Amino acid sequence: MTHEEALQALTAWLDATQDVPLETMAGFFDARIDSYEAHMSPWEKHYPWMASLLPSSVQTLLDLGCGSGLELDAIFARFPDLQVTGIDLSAPMLARLEQKHPDKRLALVQGDYFALDLGEALYDAVVSFETLHHFSASKKAGLFRQIHRCLKPGGIYLECDYIAVSQAIEDLAFAECARKRRRDGIPDGVFVHFDTPLTLEHELQALRDGGFSRVEVVGFLPEDDHTPMLRAEKQP
Ligand SMILES: C[S@@+](CC[C@H](N)C(=O)[O-])C[C@H]1O[C@@H](n2cnc3c(N)ncnc32)[C@H](O)[C@@H]1O
Repeated sequence: MTHEEALQALTAWLDATQDVPLETMAGFFDARIDSYEAHMSPWEKHYPWMASLLPSSVQTLLDLGCGSGLELDAIFARFPDLQVTGIDLSAPMLARLEQKHPDKRLALVQGDYFALDLGEALYDAVVSFETLHHFSASKKAGLFRQIHRCLKPGGIYLECDYIAVSQAIEDLAFAECARKRRRDGIPDGVFVHFDTPLTLEHELQALRDGGFSRVEVVGFLPEDDHTPMLRAEKQP
């Protein structure tokens, strides 16, 4: 799809859904617990890809926005003894994750990853999968600073999420989200489920602003040219 076609498709979708009220972030996922994993099937190859990129020495891992843990299914398949902390806003999603992996070393925290103290030098790796495409660059840079802090020296952060393929798409989505928030009277600070991905350039810059000096685009899978895998490393 060209940038022009992507912009046209987004414009048509925003027109078609302009009267649909916003849903809160947790409310959106709480209500879709039974259909959610099928909804994520377009990324079924991205999950094992993320697992394959973890270093074989990994012992402790933090998963931000873990949901029901599709990336953790793949990660536990490779590292059954891994010690994992998962954070998510949605209690039903966390309950589903716990049900799937009752025998794993899994500590779950229901809360907002922007508001929680993630600690210092605790993890060999931090991952996030399809959870950060709702937030501004400055909000993300603050979180990336926390991720940088909670990694051990030499630790890595892997992020797999979709991007806006042009500045026009980034701008349009943020403008429509702001319009809907005003219309629906959503107070500042309340998270809503409305996709506002950043361009790849802005996502990488937010990682650098968060303190990562080593940031790279690992790549894209052949069938999906708008979901990059990003890797950032804390200096050893
Ligand atoms: C699309 S789902 C992805 C879940 C999982 N990573 C996967 O790929 O299967 C996004 C998840 O991020 C969570 N989330 C969004 N914003 C969050 C926040 N500020 N703090 C914690 N969790 C958040 C949602 O509750 C939801 O479970």
